[in-house]
Formats: sequence, C-alpha cells, structure tokens
Amino acid sequence: MHLTKEEEGLLRGEEGSELAEVFEAVVKVAEVLGATRLVKVSHAHISGISYRNLGVEGVEFLEDLASRGLRFAVPTTINPAGFDLSLAWEMGVRPWEYELQMRALRALSSMGAEMTLTCTPYLLRTPCFGEHLAWAESNAVLYANSVLGARTNREGGPLSVLEALVGRAPYVGLHTEEGRRPTVVVDASRLRDLVDKEGHYAALGYLVGELVRSGVPALRNPPRGLRAPENLKLFLAALGASSSVGLVLIEGVSPEYEAGEGLETLRPGEEELRGVAERWALDDFDHAVLGCPHLSPEELVSLAQALSGVSLKKEVLAFTSRWSAQRVPEAVESLRKRGVKVYYDTCMVVGNLSALGVRKCATDSAKAAYYLAAQGYEVALMPRSALLRAVAGG
Ligand code: F3S
Repeated sequence: MHLTKEEEGLLRGEEGSELAEVFEAVVKVAEVLGATRLVKVSHAHISGISYRNLGVEGVEFLEDLASRGLRFAVPTTINPAGFDLSLAWEMGVRPWEYELQMRALRALSSMGAEMTLTCTPYLLRTPCFGEHLAWAESNAVLYANSVLGARTNREGGPLSVLEALVGRAPYVGLHTEEGRRPTVVVDASRLRDLVDKEGHYAALGYLVGELVRSGVPALRNPPRGLRAPENLKLFLAALGASSSVGLVLIEGVSPEYEAGEGLETLRPGEEELRGVAERWALDDFDHAVLGCPHLSPEELVSLAQALSGVSLKKEVLAFTSRWSAQRVPEAVESLRKRGVKVYYDTCMVVGNLSALGVRKCATDSAKAAYYLAAQGYEVALMPRSALLRAVAGG
C-alpha cells in the first residue's frame, strides 16, 4: 500500500491517536480490497442512519466515535432517518424510538454531518465529472457514477463514516479508470417501446439488475423516456435494489458511455419485463406511497399539478427532503390541501409505515416494492402515471 507523506503522518498519530486508529482501519479495508493506494474524496454520504437500521449498537458506535472528538474531514451528508423530525408523534413514534434516533443524529452532527436526511444528496450539491466521493446509498451512488460521471464505490454505511473522518477511500473499483469499463451489454431494443408506452422505468431497472447482478452494464438502445430525471431516478434505484451494480453506462445519458463492442450482450424481451412489472400486484390497496428515491422539487410540482382538482380515492403518502420542499412551498401546500401526507427526513422503507396504518400499498418504485414486501407489506408496483390515475377520483 502506497501512502503519501501526509498519510504516513496520520497513521503515526500526528493528528491524534484517535484519528490514527480510524485511518488504520481504512487502510486495512483498502488492503483487503486490493487497493494500492487511497484517494482523497471531496464529499461523503452516510446511509443506514435510521434508528431502525442502527439499533442500539449502531448508535453506540457513532457515539463512541463522536466522544473521541473526531470530526468529519470533508462535507458529509446523511440519508433519511426513521421519522419526520417535526411530525414524530403524528407518525406514531414511541419515546424510546425518538430518543434512539436523536442520539444518532446528535453524534453525527457533533462530528460535523449536515442534517440533510435525504437519499438524493446530488440534488443539494451536484458532484462534478471525475470528482471522487465516498457515498453509501445505492441510488445516489448509481446517480453520481452513471449520470454525472463522478466516482464512488457503493460503500457500506459504517465504512462511509470512517472514510468521511479521514477524507479518503480505497482507490479501487469505480474510482479507477479500469473499474469503470463495461463488463456486459444489455440491449433494450426489444422492450424499449413498451417501457415508454406504459412507463415501466422502475421495472426495467430491476430487470437489468436481476440479469447482470454485478459489474458495469452498458445499456444500449434505452427507452427515450429514460432521459427524464424522474424516470432515471426510479430506474437507478431499482437497479441498485436487485444487484450490486454501482455504475450503469446508459447510451445518451452517461458521459462515459461505451458501446461495449465484443462483450456478452443480453437482449431481454417484453415477457421478461412483464415478469418484473407484474411481480408485485394487488387487486386493491389502501395507500399510495411515492418518493423512493426522495421526490425532487420538480417532481413535487408535477405531482401537485397532477392531483390538482381531484378528490383522492386513496391515502397518498409522499416522501421528500426538507431541502426539496423548501424550494417549492406552494406545491407542498397544494398537495397537503388535497389531502396528501407529505413527509420530510424519512422514507417508506426506513420509517414505520404500519404505524401510519399502511397494510396494502401501491408504489411506483421497484426498490420500495422489494423492501416493503420483505417487511411483510402487501405491495403493488405501478408506473407513476397509472398510480396517479388510480388515486385520482376526478
Ligand atoms: Fe431513498 Fe428510502 Fe428509497 S432511502 S432510495 S426513499 S428506500
């Protein structure tokens, strides 16, 4: 492992023994991963910070780091928590849950994390092409790598905490030139018209992930509508849920797209797409849940427009970040007037939907469908347009 002079100093404890210990842990991980050096990162994003993911042990891990006086070396943002911080009691959060979550947030804040509580950190500050990041949260990793050409591996939550503290990540995988070359091609020409016609962008993402499982797929002949940011977000989140992929090279979208000439080429058809699109289905549902990944300001506006003048036939829950909501307060106000429950800081997967009375729900996100089904909810996956038609009473 090659270390710079500055890094050798860190390891010797020139910046304190506590930081040296963290640095040593990052170096060990880098060695296990086969990295020959570390790379400086400009931004870290930490996932898994809901009290439901952390548990008592995870919270104590963060508190232990904070109690040593450690501070994040780079700007650090965090994923959604277990509830909306301003609506905890309305969401049925119990006092011990509230306290556990707040202990985690206090520890993260004291180390210098920004209380962003969103899985769309790329909306708050858009990374540049070629910028190295230490991001956990698969949908954000896929967006940064595939759409922006920034460079980050799919870090686990705890490793991203350590990387944020030292401002470095192992220089392997998607940080490197070689690690970003396509390994397999998925040609979507046989199903792209169907995706565009019916809006199955999430199902397509889930299907691509299921087909390739890992590596760097190049997506040839993608549906035209995939270029729309809201469709891209659903596609990438779904791909991240069904695979360990952290970069997909999409023709017409990804700045580093390569056709992958000579590589194995998969050509899924309509039947395979329908197999995913119809995997999560219900005759009826009680709640519609939107915002996995968190709704952007533009999505909040278009949702408010789509639901304006309609009386809702179903309960609608929308998840977004405080940052996005603050950019379009009229849209949020309009949604709330319509009866839509808009939540910040949390999401349908890391929060507790059952405390909100949800049993059978429909979502436009295959990532949410997958995780909610795993939590025991009855779930339907529907394209956003179909979901909005189903909830609008006219
Ligand atoms: Fe975000 Fe929660 Fe989905 S963190 S990507 S809304 S599972």
